[in-house]
Amino acid sequence: MTERAKGKRRSTGWFSGIDRNTFIHRSWMKNQGHPDHVFDGRPIIGICNTWSELTPCNAHLRDLAEHVKHGVYEAGGFPLEFPVMSLGETQLRPTAMLFRNLASMDVEESIRGNPIDGVVLLVGCDKTTPACVMGAASVDLPTLVVSGGPMLNGKFRGQDIGSGTHVWKFSEEVRCGLMSPEDFRDAEAGMSRSAGHCMTMGTASTMACLVEALGLALPTNAAIPAVDARRRRLAHQAGNRIVAMVEEDLKPSQILTRKAFENAVRAVNAVGGSTNAVIHLLAIAGRVGVEFTLDDWDRLGRDVSCLVDLMPSGRYLMEDFYYAGGLPAVLRELGDLIHRDALTVTGRTLGENIDGAPNDNPEVIRPQDNPVVPDSGIAVLKGNLAPDGAIIKPAAASAALLRHTGRAVVFEDIDDFYARIDDETLDVDASCVLVLKHCGPKGYPGMPEVGNMPLPPKILRQGVTDMVRISDARMSGTAYGTVVLHVAPEAAVGGPLALVRSGDMIALDVPARKISLLVDDEELARRRAAWQPPAPITSRGYVKLYVDHVLQANEGADLDFLKGGSGSAVPRHSH
Ligand code: FES
Repeated sequence: MTERAKGKRRSTGWFSGIDRNTFIHRSWMKNQGHPDHVFDGRPIIGICNTWSELTPCNAHLRDLAEHVKHGVYEAGGFPLEFPVMSLGETQLRPTAMLFRNLASMDVEESIRGNPIDGVVLLVGCDKTTPACVMGAASVDLPTLVVSGGPMLNGKFRGQDIGSGTHVWKFSEEVRCGLMSPEDFRDAEAGMSRSAGHCMTMGTASTMACLVEALGLALPTNAAIPAVDARRRRLAHQAGNRIVAMVEEDLKPSQILTRKAFENAVRAVNAVGGSTNAVIHLLAIAGRVGVEFTLDDWDRLGRDVSCLVDLMPSGRYLMEDFYYAGGLPAVLRELGDLIHRDALTVTGRTLGENIDGAPNDNPEVIRPQDNPVVPDSGIAVLKGNLAPDGAIIKPAAASAALLRHTGRAVVFEDIDDFYARIDDETLDVDASCVLVLKHCGPKGYPGMPEVGNMPLPPKILRQGVTDMVRISDARMSGTAYGTVVLHVAPEAAVGGPLALVRSGDMIALDVPARKISLLVDDEELARRRAAWQPPAPITSRGYVKLYVDHVLQANEGADLDFLKGGSGSAVPRHSH
């Protein structure tokens, strides 16, 4: 390493020199057994770990951190692992999304306030990836993402079952008596049978693809199963590479360009990715100051087909996706739809990274002329019901419902929904449109994944498996159905969704990108005049901060004061 590089190293501001402060910084670190020479100006690499036993998808990340450390040491750096808030999608109430922005603040301040020169983000479960990327982007030190990887394919009674996707399927079957409670219980262990995150193309897998397409992760990071030794090899290589990135001063701001965001949208659509990617990518763009809107999502998705045959849109699972070639093969299949010259953490362009990437199973990763679902990009809908936009994932919807007009059956909030959906006297038929209010960022609060409302049992018994559903909520990336999500403005701030009443007619026209409440303007004005905002949920704590400052879904649901970045400088000492 050059003396010039050593002299400019950020961490030398803590460890270089003979004075009271540098004594304090070095001495206390030495209680862990670190020798003098690790403070000689070599790159200090933070390993930002979202490990937690309460986040089962990330419970193996301590092990993965050791392999990153091997790589860092080998390349002449000094690794220091630190924990940040972990968000477990399956355990955390009321919803992990409520805490994404809080976790991002933890990540941002932990990176900025500590003596590190570069950082590896260890992520996995849905919100851990955007939270860490958002926080790190606001600091802008050299950053590399290592995902924990998906679980092995789920197995039950001789068939592959997918995380989440089969939960929805099995739970509906139990509700209408097609599956026994005993079988339901047995399927649990078969579904989650190894370390790792959901192995469908749910939000975790989508976000892993998204960061790889953005250029923030090494090629193939997205798909290697958590327990495949090649995941550890990749972690080791990430340790090597982050040291070089510090030497090169290669920062997120050089990687997270407009072209990178466009690549990410194409990639998410090509893998049939989760609708949650929309909200997270908008939030990340907000942190780095790249102009990026819902309309960009729609425009960039229009000529992309779903090429990856994975649940919930298709048949296979992440293990199959990795063996077929993973994301590099998909990006290569996308050809001219990808900006090949976008810079990545490898120091090379995305195009250079994917040159020669093989597609070893064209059944799993289809060529563009034989897609799983043609022209299937996530669509942005607008109209008098969603003036600032709503989204739908056509690849997960029923083709016959993409143009549909139906009578609204309205649930004022999630409690109202659960109280009435199983009621045999509910006035509903298969042509109706289920509408759920007060599940947006401020309304729930936290915008939970309840948008894929279970259907009424009496409809299920008719053999109907899909209805049009509309809400200001999100939907699990593992779910499916003709589900309109992220309606903005949300009901809790008086968006038109708040004015819908049972019996109103609603028209959905996905090809025309329209969603319309067929009620005349005078009547809507009368309803608006009578509308009362909901009472505040709480008067204290983080939830109050969140409700007071959260942006709407079409702006990424970040906190308004977190947009942008503050860099890595910390002008004052602690002593
Ligand atoms: Fe963690 Fe699905 S619950 S990734």
